Amino acid sequence: MNKTSSGTARSDALVLFGVTGDLAHKKIFPALYAMAKRGVLNVPVVGIATSDWNMTQLRKHVTDSIKQFSKIDDRPALHHLLSLLRYVAGNYSDPGTFYALRKTLGNVRRPAHYLAIPPALFATVIKGLGAAGLANQARVIVEKPFGRDLASAQSLNSVARSVFQEDSIFRIDHYLAKEAIMNLLYFRFANSFLEPIWNRNYVASVQITLSEDFGIEGRGAFYETAGCLRDVIQNHLFQIVALLAMEPPTYRGFGAVHGETTDVFQAMRALNPDDVVRGQYAGYRNEPGVAKHSNVETFCALRLFIDSWRWEGVPWYLRSGKFLAQTATEVIVQLKPPPQRLFADSAPVSGRANYLRFRLSPNSAVALAARVKRAGKDFVGDQRELYLVDERPGEETPYERLLGDAMTGNGALFTREDAVEAAWTVVDPVLNTPYQIHPYRRHSWGPKQANALIAKDGSWHNPGPGEA
Ligand code: BG6
Repeated sequence: MNKTSSGTARSDALVLFGVTGDLAHKKIFPALYAMAKRGVLNVPVVGIATSDWNMTQLRKHVTDSIKQFSKIDDRPALHHLLSLLRYVAGNYSDPGTFYALRKTLGNVRRPAHYLAIPPALFATVIKGLGAAGLANQARVIVEKPFGRDLASAQSLNSVARSVFQEDSIFRIDHYLAKEAIMNLLYFRFANSFLEPIWNRNYVASVQITLSEDFGIEGRGAFYETAGCLRDVIQNHLFQIVALLAMEPPTYRGFGAVHGETTDVFQAMRALNPDDVVRGQYAGYRNEPGVAKHSNVETFCALRLFIDSWRWEGVPWYLRSGKFLAQTATEVIVQLKPPPQRLFADSAPVSGRANYLRFRLSPNSAVALAARVKRAGKDFVGDQRELYLVDERPGEETPYERLLGDAMTGNGALFTREDAVEAAWTVVDPVLNTPYQIHPYRRHSWGPKQANALIAKDGSWHNPGPGEA
């Protein structure tokens, strides 16, 4: 097996394993179409799947995806994308599939292989690529979840590293390519006013909610192997924590950012069962692909500590769930109240003390809440938000950005092996311990046990619908 690095040369083909699947349909084809519209997709796109499809079926499938998840507003770009498509049918455990792929690739020298397939097949495909000589100068793009726990992540990393060099492995966490999340890094380190208060002396707690008002949407078989903790908390929410908690990078460049965020994962205290509340929405067990007595959580709330100089003793509360009351992602950095209660309504007596709020989706905003006096004789006031909105419609979608970056060898927005393993180390202790699952009503804010988890430090802030 040859492990020549892909360097920074542009990939000369995109190979899409799982081309007939859900991820390709919802995210990847619209991203490829957007790239075609911008004129930056000019290499063959080879789809691979087990279904015995012909090109007409594949082209129709791609066109349907774009109709449904984007908009056909540029026919020449659509035709261009369709003209780049090729298809290889075959089983991933059959070496013949990889030889057929090699034949289809012809003169291609530096393919990028995108694994949009169930995680259980990653290792088989990576080994198949290596054995067929398709890894030389190539890149591999792997979807999350990268492993199911620490041991499987380590073994997957070692398979991947036996075939590809680390700088040719692109582990996707699409949250890293969201504008509002990249703004966390920018906002923290492009401003000087935050640093003095950004620590255990002024921050009482931090909470992050990623809520969705829809269910598992036909992904029962996948979700049964994952659950909320593995699906979004160990990756998406942990990445947000890392950007909020990291030390300033010491030099310009993403290598420094990777180093600092990995340090945060390494400083996170391993979870213990009392730190976690799991819930399941009513009716989950009747979803297709879900076991009748499934104990898989569709809601998860947890309390996390980062054992570092900066964050000692500050609790981080994370929560996510399907079928909650709103679709939104929001961070509240709760500041401590003033040391002396000079006014009748001083916090914490009357509501929250000052806080910083980052709305990350569906819109993007930053708000700083501070109290101001109400007109009149009494020294009482209200908490008002000083408000910065930053919505940029028309920006690249995360998948478009990530695909383009991976194909040019830019690993800035991808996760590193040591970061992934450190994040698994934090959640590993609660993955295999027995737990109680608390049922909750659809379109509620999850089971009430989650409120008890945060009670010592206040309450959850439920992101509002129209709130920016
Ligand atoms: C994916 C999860 O990684 O992220 C989904 O598998 C979840 O379950 C999704 O819905 C959320 O991403 P976004 O970009 O829609 O917030």
